[in-house]
Formats: sequence, C-alpha cells, structure tokens
Amino acid sequence: MYEKTINFIKQLYGNQEFTPLAVPVFVGNEKKYLNECIDSTFVSSVGKFVDRFEEMVAEYTGAKRAVVCVNGTNALHIAMMLAGVERGDEVLTQALTFIATCNAISYIGAHPVFIDVDKETMGLSPVALKNWLEANAEVKNGACYNKHTGHRVKACVPMHTFGHPCKIEDIAAVCHEYHLELVEDAAESIGSFYKGRHTGTFGKIGALSFNGNKTITTGGGGMLLFNDEELGKLAKHITTQAKVPHRWEFRHDHIGYNYRMPNINAALGCAQMEHLEEYVLNKRETAKQYAEFFKNIADIDFFVEPADSRSNYWLNVVILKDKEAQLKFLQETNDNGVMTRPIWELMNRLPMFEHCEHDSLENTIWFADRVVNIPSSVRL
Ligand SMILES: Cc1ncc(COP(=O)(O)O)c(C=O)c1O
Repeated sequence: MYEKTINFIKQLYGNQEFTPLAVPVFVGNEKKYLNECIDSTFVSSVGKFVDRFEEMVAEYTGAKRAVVCVNGTNALHIAMMLAGVERGDEVLTQALTFIATCNAISYIGAHPVFIDVDKETMGLSPVALKNWLEANAEVKNGACYNKHTGHRVKACVPMHTFGHPCKIEDIAAVCHEYHLELVEDAAESIGSFYKGRHTGTFGKIGALSFNGNKTITTGGGGMLLFNDEELGKLAKHITTQAKVPHRWEFRHDHIGYNYRMPNINAALGCAQMEHLEEYVLNKRETAKQYAEFFKNIADIDFFVEPADSRSNYWLNVVILKDKEAQLKFLQETNDNGVMTRPIWELMNRLPMFEHCEHDSLENTIWFADRVVNIPSSVRL
C-alpha cells in the first residue's frame, strides 16, 4: 500500500538495504580534534575544547553565555533549578514531548501540568496555555498559584517539537503576564530560528541536546543558553561541583553537580559546529523534496515548518489519516528496511505522570494518533 513512499525514501537515501531514522555524520575535523585532545592528555574535565565549544554555540545562537553539560537531560535539570523551581511547585509543559522534559521537572520534586500543543507547530499552544491559566491560576504577591491545588506554578517549559519552533513569542507574553519563568526545551532545535532569533534564547534559560541522533552530536552532550551572563556563570559553577577556584585547595560553596562535558566530547562538538549550518541546509533540502513528493500521495501529509520560522527539520514528520493508517504505515515501512517511528507515548499516559493535571489535550491526541517520523539524516 505504501510501496511508492518506501521506494522514494530508499532512493532519497541512496537505496541502502536499511534506511535509518537519524544517524550522525563525521566529515570534518572530528578525528583531528580528537587526536589533538588525546595527545594533550586533557580528555576529561579540563581542556581548551570545552571553552571553544561554548563560545561557538553562544556565537551561533546569539546567547550571551552557553554552558556545556553532560547531556540535555541534566541541562534541563539545572535549568529547572536556576529558574527557581522548588519541591511541590507545578510546571506547565507538553504531554507531547520526550520523557527527559518531565524527568527534569521531577528531579526537583515538582509536578508537570500538561497543556495542549498547537496544530501549526506541534509545540505548546499559547492559546491553550492562556486558557488553562485563566481557568485555574491566580497571581498573588507576584507569584502564580493553582487555585485548586494551592501549589505555586513556577515555570513553563515549551518544547520545539522535532525542531520546529513553537509560537515562542506569544508563549513568552503569557508567561510574563502570569509571572512564570520561561525555560525552553530546545533539545531538538539547534539550527532552528523563530523570526530570525535562535530557539532557546527567548526565555530565562534554553537547553540543547547533542545526543547521537541530533542534528549535530558530541556522543552525549547538552548545552544551557543564557541571556543573563551572571546566571550563566552560576550554571558553570554548579555544573562543575561548585568548586571555588584555587590552585590547590578543594573548597566548594554550594551543592554542586558533576555535569560538565568532558573535553573529548567537546572536541567532537567543535568539529560538528563547523558544519552545522551546512547540515541544516542539507536537511531543509531533504524536507523540500519530501514536501514535493507527498503533495501527490493521497492520505499522507508532510508537516512543513510553521510561519515565521527557519526549522532545522530535525526529524521529518508525516501525518497519516488515522491511527489505523499510522500503524499500517509503521508496519510496512519497518518491514521493508525503512526505519520509521511514532511519536513518544504521551506523558500523561505514563505511570509516573498519569495522575498529573492536564487540559483537553485535543491536538496532542490528534497528533499522537497520526504522526510518524521518517528518515531524516543529513544526506552526503
Ligand atoms: C525534547 C527533548 N528533551 C530533552 C532531551 C534530552 O537530551 P539528552 O538525550 O541529551 O539527555 C531530548 C533528547 O534526547 C529531547 O528530545
């Protein structure tokens, strides 16, 4: 039934026996920098590549300060902490996200509240956010509270789903009105811009991921983005065991975390950053070809970037007619050597979060029943 689509995807990726979803490419200075790193013996927590990688990402994204972490999940953990989220607080986010968003909220002892996503972006809906707040929240003494639970609502964490920027300016305006800290889960969206500004730089803090399936990778890795230099400095301090700088003394002035990315991963990051823009343009060209192809395929729509955005098209998305068609498509493509995946199980359906509050999640469920990710690697 989906033979034409399977053949098109296979041909797009050079007719391999197996077409994976997203694999990294190493065609630049990766080996050179790794060798330099090994030769220097500074493979661990000290070395020049860490600073260089942070500077490269700050320059590319326009953030005042970028701070590397071991992965995107612990970048989000630190972001929650620095946004002032505390045990018992509520944090507004999406049910349509990867588990890491909610894990980071949970590490603090806070609770996610799931708000619906937008039909045009697959990211948090500013309208649904506002509606939930109007119905459930009140601002008292400069802080937002859930009128029903009495808990403080401290932050909002939208996610730029599959690399497509969400309506982040409108979300920021609602957060401002309700005194919520805005933390962007930009794990999937390095290289994606909204109105010319990089995702992850609109709120108080943004978090990126450099996991192996992302647009660029450091093996494992994450990055925090800040517009506030002082907050960035504090992040650096607490992600490096909060050690007070001294030539030989071991003094620590805060509970710290060993979340700093090793130099050897950062070496990989520097080499990958040199090719980021080229990879994004390559992925956008693939998306253009998919969009053209699916125009002529009945009952499958290709999801195109939202208005005012330059998406990295991290993972390409097709929308099937219904759940039955989604399952059939998954079955046929995977049976024929084309790797495809459905969206993550919705967060409110997982045992750890099924008791959490949520709104209607109408669009969220609509997407969950129809979305399939199709191969999206950079094509060399
Ligand atoms: C939306 C989202 N948030 C957070 C993460 C966590 O990043 P990491 O795997 O680097 O911990 C990922 C991806 O892996 C993600 O897709």
